[in-house]
Amino acid sequence: MKRTLSLLLWALMTAAVCAAAPPADTLRLRADNISAIVQALTLEEKAELVVGAGFKSMIAGVTGAKGVLVPGAAGETRAIPRLGIPAIVLSDGPAGVRIEPRRKRVKERTYYATAFPTGTILASTWNTEMVRKVGVAMGNEALEYGVDVLLAPGLNIHRNPLCGRNFEYYSEDPVLSGRMAAAMIRGVQSNGVGTSAKHYAANSQETHRSGNDARIDLRTLREIYLKGFEIAVREASPWTVMSSYNKINGEYTQSDPWLLTAVLRNEWGFDGLVMTDWTGKRNTGRQVAAGNDLMEPGRASQAREIVRMVKSGELDGVYLDVCVARVLGLIVKTPRFRGYAYSDSPDLAAHALVAREAAAEGMVLLQNNGVLPLKGAVKKIALYGIAGYSPCIGGTGSGFVHAPYTVTVPEALRKAGLDVDRALEERYGTYLARHKKKGGIVGSMLGTGIPAEFSLGDAVSAGSADAALFVIGRQAGEEEDRRVEDDFLLTATERQNLEAVSKAFRAAGKPVVVVMNIGGVIETASWKDLADALLVTWQPGEEGAHALVDILLGKACPSGRLPATFPLDYLDIPSSANFPYDAVDRGSRNTFKVSRDKGRRNVDFTEYKEGLDVGYRYFAGRPVSFPFGFGLSYTRFSFDEMEVTGASDGSLLVRVTVTNRGDRAGKEVVQVYIHDRKPLIKKPLRELKGFAKTGRLLPGASEMLEIRIPPYVLASYNDGTNRWECPAAFTVEAGASVDDIRLSTEVDRP
Ligand code: BGC
Repeated sequence: MKRTLSLLLWALMTAAVCAAAPPADTLRLRADNISAIVQALTLEEKAELVVGAGFKSMIAGVTGAKGVLVPGAAGETRAIPRLGIPAIVLSDGPAGVRIEPRRKRVKERTYYATAFPTGTILASTWNTEMVRKVGVAMGNEALEYGVDVLLAPGLNIHRNPLCGRNFEYYSEDPVLSGRMAAAMIRGVQSNGVGTSAKHYAANSQETHRSGNDARIDLRTLREIYLKGFEIAVREASPWTVMSSYNKINGEYTQSDPWLLTAVLRNEWGFDGLVMTDWTGKRNTGRQVAAGNDLMEPGRASQAREIVRMVKSGELDGVYLDVCVARVLGLIVKTPRFRGYAYSDSPDLAAHALVAREAAAEGMVLLQNNGVLPLKGAVKKIALYGIAGYSPCIGGTGSGFVHAPYTVTVPEALRKAGLDVDRALEERYGTYLARHKKKGGIVGSMLGTGIPAEFSLGDAVSAGSADAALFVIGRQAGEEEDRRVEDDFLLTATERQNLEAVSKAFRAAGKPVVVVMNIGGVIETASWKDLADALLVTWQPGEEGAHALVDILLGKACPSGRLPATFPLDYLDIPSSANFPYDAVDRGSRNTFKVSRDKGRRNVDFTEYKEGLDVGYRYFAGRPVSFPFGFGLSYTRFSFDEMEVTGASDGSLLVRVTVTNRGDRAGKEVVQVYIHDRKPLIKKPLRELKGFAKTGRLLPGASEMLEIRIPPYVLASYNDGTNRWECPAAFTVEAGASVDDIRLSTEVDRP
């Protein structure tokens, strides 16, 4: 009764305010009348505009609910028809458009989207042009499926390999992450749809992500966790940025004016919109005042809170107006506002080719004793490992994509003219079918994990196969971090199987190729000797198996390089001292509720005590299994010459000439590191400041690469002076990995 009464009162009040507004037919939203529209909106309408329309589109694919623009999209904004303000559609994610592939009321067609290679493998290409191309294709699918903003790219730093979402992110290095994100943003936005650089910032773990306080010193925060976002914002102007779930140093990122306004807008010049990650109601007024323009997915109670706070004077209406203007500023850029007639028929076949090309370019060859590319005598393959038959094309959670199909390894091998051991295929097929029956791998809204390996027993024999292909699969995703046991480490069954296969094939003089189809780094040091060749495909999207076979047969020459270090041991990683290592309380799975802070270390708060010692910044010069930037090729390159000059804007211009000295065509990556010879503050041995990749060089061909390092990338943050400072005496190093420096030049600046 009370509720009905208050609703009635609310309706009457709204009607009264609406009555005072200008007649609906005189004013319509245009790109050049945003301030007039802000003035014409009622307080209630303003509050509605900054609060999303809820979960209706996300769950519509399951419930079949009517009245949503794109079923399965992550969210919509609210429309205000009287002022010509349409609702717009926001959809995940970093590996492709995540919408429901089937609609209850549309039987005759489907809405599948290309599952592109995930973030980590895209970063492994070290090819910004390739990533831009993927972005162009992904953005086109967003456009053609009626999506206005793609909730991508994800560019959190791989602080620790156990973060469940690393597959969505690019690298342990902020420059590589930032450049990849910038390329992706440029590609997607070239379609006239928006992006959302996420999750800003320091969302480095999934365990209790909605309450975790990341405690980070200012220099580390700026140099490691913010720098990638800075690069993306300065170089590619994403239409939106998504503030993360977590806190940084005691303040939720979503209500931190320093992060959202002082740094993001005032320092870096961001002029787009900030939306929250998909959070429940927090202190909405503080979020608005901090410069968080849109609350997602949005609840009616948030809008009510805003209205109440403005009325009571707790929230200055000026802050609200600014947020509203930014929401309108976003809307007028969108296809929906332009009235774009989307087809619901993107060219999936063309995009599959892009996905395949990018996947092949991002796979990293880590070991090869001459068995790859496979020789002509290899006709029949014995394929081991669940992920060979049911590939992990991506991770789970919001980064999951409903792909039209997944190419399996046997399919790809056969298509390339190779034979596959049928008995083995049947054995895996039966196991997978049994698992599927139990509901294990039926695609859900957000994807599901892969089943555990079964034991091959002792009776492994090479039989008539000419080579063994052993695929190790890993899948993780949102809301949960990975474990050390049985995930970072091989399971006992995997290890036994690998040992048995390796022994049998080696005894028969036949090669063993191990493929790591993983979302994040795993331990390799203790078993890699069992492999003649070792390849990491990461999670390569729907066409991954074709790309893998392209590499195995030498149709593609490997040119991927690691975006993250493979350590010898988990405990070697400095952040392992402060990360939820097999935490008992693996975090509330309830993302949307802010739970009470119980003071649990690595759950409620995490101390980033390792500071700058993230990835190779710590490991350079120390023993690792595979270093950052490493990757083999089927050909050889020499780094011939390096020239370093200065540009008028203060940038360094590094020119390196590379020559293909082998007998196959291939691509090489030049990584430019800086070593400060007279540091005023403590610095890592070397830091990546730029990189470039050659085109496909024929044997004997050379290319000069030019790498530009702007001052804001060269500088380090001196927390004594609170300023960014460029080094004065430093060495510019051109490397094929962080541990393989080929050329260096000393630079002294006055
Ligand atoms: C994820 C975001 C995603 C959003 C919408 C959240 O749980 O953290 O990355 O964009 O959901 O699906």
